[in-house]
Amino acid sequence: MTHPVTVYPTDADFAAKSRYRREDYERLYAESVADPDAFWGGVAKRLDWFKAPTKIKNVSFDLADFRIHWYEDGELNASVNCLDRHLAERGDKTALLFEHDDPNLPAEHISYRELHARVCRLANALRNLGVKKGDRITIYLPMIPEAVVAMLACARVGAIHSVVFGGFAPNSIADRVADCASKLVITADEGLRGSKKIPLKANVDAALKLPGTNSVETVLVVRHTGAAVDMQMPRDRWYDAVVEGQPETCEPERMNAEDPLFILYTSGSTGKPKGVLHTTGGYLVYASFTHEAVFDLREDDIYWCTADVGWVTGHSYIVYGPLANGATALVFEGVPNYPDVSRFWNVIDKHKVSVFYTAPTAIRALMRDGDEPVKKTSRASLRLLGTVGEPINPEAWRWYYEVVGDSRCPIVDTWWQTETGGILITPLAGAIDLKPGSASKPFFGVQPALVDANGGELEGEAEGNLVLKDSWPGQMRTVYGDHPRFIETYFKTYPGSYFTGDGCRRDADGYYWITGRVDDVINVSGHRIGTAEVESALVSHPKVAEAAVVGFPHDLKGQGIYAYVTLIAGEAQNDDLRKELVAWVRKEIGPIATPDHLQWAPGLPKTRSGKIMRRILRKIAENAPDQLGDTSTLADPSVVESLVNERLGK
Ligand code: WT7
Repeated sequence: MTHPVTVYPTDADFAAKSRYRREDYERLYAESVADPDAFWGGVAKRLDWFKAPTKIKNVSFDLADFRIHWYEDGELNASVNCLDRHLAERGDKTALLFEHDDPNLPAEHISYRELHARVCRLANALRNLGVKKGDRITIYLPMIPEAVVAMLACARVGAIHSVVFGGFAPNSIADRVADCASKLVITADEGLRGSKKIPLKANVDAALKLPGTNSVETVLVVRHTGAAVDMQMPRDRWYDAVVEGQPETCEPERMNAEDPLFILYTSGSTGKPKGVLHTTGGYLVYASFTHEAVFDLREDDIYWCTADVGWVTGHSYIVYGPLANGATALVFEGVPNYPDVSRFWNVIDKHKVSVFYTAPTAIRALMRDGDEPVKKTSRASLRLLGTVGEPINPEAWRWYYEVVGDSRCPIVDTWWQTETGGILITPLAGAIDLKPGSASKPFFGVQPALVDANGGELEGEAEGNLVLKDSWPGQMRTVYGDHPRFIETYFKTYPGSYFTGDGCRRDADGYYWITGRVDDVINVSGHRIGTAEVESALVSHPKVAEAAVVGFPHDLKGQGIYAYVTLIAGEAQNDDLRKELVAWVRKEIGPIATPDHLQWAPGLPKTRSGKIMRRILRKIAENAPDQLGDTSTLADPSVVESLVNERLGK
């Protein structure tokens, strides 16, 4: 790195009260890797088990003898851990603090007792509808309390939930429903984001007309905006009606620690999104422990994570981690810039939020509007800030620290993935000095390493591909329905290690600096989009012959989507068609996959064996035609020249 790095030493006042100090981190980290059974056996005691585990870790990344089991003889129920066990001491404590999209509607305070009752009513209703342990349920809901209730009700009856983000289009819903053969879908009439309506029920209707979705027997519809929707009887049922009159208690299913808790689809470098499967015991231990440790949790914290439950951040750090810890979690339906760009800070003041966890893309967007919309609010309740989803540029980090946190609040830059279930690399405030832009040090039990292209481990200061040499309890267990793909994707590239797909640098102090994906995955505003998915959406258009999609640096989104499109012979390249194709991708996958640029490509740069040279396309998209590198293996070098000229507007 050429620019100097400023170190923000741990704050003495913060460290005086924090859960961990410098010495604790070093000692506990050493213990955690020296004796994982002792360490993770101890951590597991934080949960309530029907049967406490006696076997802690049983893992081998060796392909001949592959297994990942944690707490394998333990039995528990996730909803009991998130609800029942708090009733005696925290029954009246607010579990969920719901802030509507519309700031004029009163916030809802849902106590642990009330949340328990709502979950039990829905769980009973699900059982009445024939849902059994192991059944899959798709949840396609806005950020409203029912989303949390639905997840926990599934957990209570042992059904495996698959939450699909509300920004996905019918095709994407259908793929996800079909892949796991969901029996039931829980949705709402509409969602609301910045007063804009999202036709959730209509999207489900369209999805369920698509092939492969006839496993769905029931659709439960939450009445949220009150909009009129088509109810197709007997398939569709109002949520209100099915939960009405249900008992407020419900016998929880006894789950083995390795029984699945949920599936969450995420994009990979090839093919369709994969169903990342997490199991009950290890996941819950890891989510709750990291939530407490990384956010330095206190009993009276008002904790706000701005993610959507459609992503893993929402699963681990809005629902399972905070509720297992008996915390108060804010659930926000809206967006950062509605009704104005002070919304986040106004919500923080209104509810006295003490811990705030958001994404770099939101910080960059808000930073553009200057300091005034922040400074006119108090934010005095804040004591700790966090970020997740993509590398944070040091400028955004400093703005977050100085302007949002008034130079008082440490920032935890947390690196992790859908696959990892919880945070793996992060500072622990009070214990680890901060460096803007670095996720800093491995969490307890986490063993990162950097490897070169041949798999050789790099020591000391180095840059390479990031792998994890051993397991942690929150690790995904398989790709739903496709175990070979799990092994292939994560364990074949660097035998003996889990490959993250990220590039990373380690500095002289042993700090980790994530440099971004090294595979064909684009990180758009902290959301993963597979280039292959966008390409297949494009080529499904009748006028498209071929498409190649790459990421490019984007000021707000981190990375944007750049599509090169070759039309079938005789089709005219014009702006109308360009717009039509962009809209087509939006419709096929969802708004999050909307290409930022679409460039006509009379031909694509290929090797003589026909492989598209994406490295070259990335450089053209970046507008760096002088850095194309070695082009000697191109089948037809003139293709590149014409793409560069088009990009430069020549
Ligand atoms: C990818 C995982 C983890 C929940 C949200 C995203 C990138 C994530 C950071 C960070 C740099 C980060 C990585 C990772 N990423 N957090 N703090 N610094 N990069 O989950 O959709 O599974 O994406 O997000 O590239 O591999 P996801």
